[in-house]
Amino acid sequence: MSMRSRIESIFEWLEEEDPEAIVILNSVKPHVDKTFFYASGLYRGEFENCALIMYPDHTAEMCVSKLESESASKSDIPMDIMEDREELKEWLEEKLSDKKKIGINASELTYKGFEKIQDSTEADIIDVSDAIIEARNRKDEKEIEILDKAGDIASSVAEEITDHISEGMKEFKVAAELSYRMRQKGASGDAFEIIAGSGPNSAEPHYTSGKRELQKGDFLVLDFGALYKRYRSDITRTYIIGEASDRQKKMYSTVLEAQKAALDMIEPGVEGAEVHNAAKEVIDSTEFEGKFIHGLGHSIGLSTHDGSGLSPNVEVTLEPGMVFTVEPGIYISDFGGVRIEDDIVVTEEGYRLLTDADKEMRVL
Ligand code: GLY
Ligand code: MN
Ligand code: MN
Repeated sequence: MSMRSRIESIFEWLEEEDPEAIVILNSVKPHVDKTFFYASGLYRGEFENCALIMYPDHTAEMCVSKLESESASKSDIPMDIMEDREELKEWLEEKLSDKKKIGINASELTYKGFEKIQDSTEADIIDVSDAIIEARNRKDEKEIEILDKAGDIASSVAEEITDHISEGMKEFKVAAELSYRMRQKGASGDAFEIIAGSGPNSAEPHYTSGKRELQKGDFLVLDFGALYKRYRSDITRTYIIGEASDRQKKMYSTVLEAQKAALDMIEPGVEGAEVHNAAKEVIDSTEFEGKFIHGLGHSIGLSTHDGSGLSPNVEVTLEPGMVFTVEPGIYISDFGGVRIEDDIVVTEEGYRLLTDADKEMRVL
């Protein structure tokens, strides 16, 4: 599949700027710009210290190290193969020295990478990261197909994991089970560090996992996702171990209701902040007022946090093709937390769930 439409989309999102070229320059992991993969469509390879240049006629070319050349050949973007890093410098000079204005992705470029580009040209260097985010936030059919699969893998693991969880199990074992099961279903890895937080640990939104053993009366927050063809899913389910108290039941039903209120809002033309507010209002109208302490969701794609979101701090009007998580939560220190998270794609009519595991309250 040609990626020209993705490159076209980046250039279309530019406003006053009219760069003669946009340079994507990778450093070493994790400072490898995912835009390199957005523009090339490549699934495999690391592409550390490699570069890709996009042009206003929607063509591109790349400079890759020898060890990536086999992977790179799967893209229709012409490539030059470099023997060593010195050649990358020469390549940048050859391509950029006659340019007057070039764009960079300042959100992902390292300072050293920036200096390398500066050394290769006299051109004005402008940041085009906003245009890149706008383009990447509107997923094309191919991307949605991959995100669907990433969502399916995580959803089916969320369904089956409940048969493998019991009192006494350590959190990190639950995380390992999740990871193993996603790999068994075709994931190439975890989308991010898995969260398996039990008891009071479930009140920490970005907990990971530890050696705490699951106890009767615990909440267990499982937040995980599949990495598939470089794209990511992100799902959270919260379970209760052994026996649920009335307070836990109320927390759970409030979060579920908040998620439903938010999902019901989603359709083209709605502001992301309004969707957040719909969930927040549900939670704030209960005894759990003020305990929803983060944005409702983030855009997701090649990155788990892909640059946009459903939050009072992000300005975005929903459009078909945008993909977000919807993840309200209630967090009570020294007690526990509940979060329910699904991934959705905005459609012409409203939205479609990319993750669809059951979310009725479950006591395990
Ligand atoms: N798993 C990280 C998040 O939900 O944003
Ligand atoms: Mn998550
Ligand atoms: Mn998330």
